[in-house]
Amino acid sequence: MSGQPRIAPSILSADFSKLGDDIAMCESGGADWIHIDVMDGRFVPNLTFGAKVIETVRKRTALTLDVHLMVVEPEKYFDDFAAAGASLLTIHAEAAPHLHRQLNRIRELGCRAGVALNPATPLDAVSEILPELDLLLIMSVNPGFGGQKFIPYSVDKIRRARLMLDEARSNAALEVDGGINRDTISSVWEAGADTFVAGNAIFSAKDPKAEIGVLRGLCGVTV
Ligand code: DX5
Ligand code: ZN
Repeated sequence: MSGQPRIAPSILSADFSKLGDDIAMCESGGADWIHIDVMDGRFVPNLTFGAKVIETVRKRTALTLDVHLMVVEPEKYFDDFAAAGASLLTIHAEAAPHLHRQLNRIRELGCRAGVALNPATPLDAVSEILPELDLLLIMSVNPGFGGQKFIPYSVDKIRRARLMLDEARSNAALEVDGGINRDTISSVWEAGADTFVAGNAIFSAKDPKAEIGVLRGLCGVTV
């Protein structure tokens, strides 16, 4: 792998009574992106938030807002989320049969476009549309909740995803999401991921601000 690791704290595990402070904490701790998990209670068995929260976070930071749509019919939200200040919209291949059209629509709206794959979904789901991808998100838990256990065989999937992107000369970010913590981050960095979502590991740490640097340090890169 090359380049610097990106750490993307997931605000799913933030304290919503002080969301603005938590965003500022992530920023001063050196977070690269802020990861925003949108769930609709249909694609996944949980409900979170929509455009209003994206807009609120956008007012507090200039960082990349990495919006992960765990929803059916994601195209219904593109316009509102782009207008709210999303930088990157990632949709699930399992929920989006017309990926080519949808990724292009995201880009037309001025956002970068990503595709997420559930643990059971093969990499083949994106092999025909690699030129359209700004980001490939490999789920290392079944989406829906924070604080779940990392699925160990995700490491091999990330290794194969890295090869697939390199062979296609793709510059897409390779992101991993779910169960990333002090014990798991170095294996996925070594496998070729470059962007790491972490919710529970950061917000439940004794010192959440410092934890961002600890996770980055475990990727073996000095910054
Ligand atoms: C899970 C979400 C994740 C979640 C990760 O469905 O997509 O982004 O916040 O949380 P942790 O890091 O606690 O596994
Ligand atoms: Zn996520």
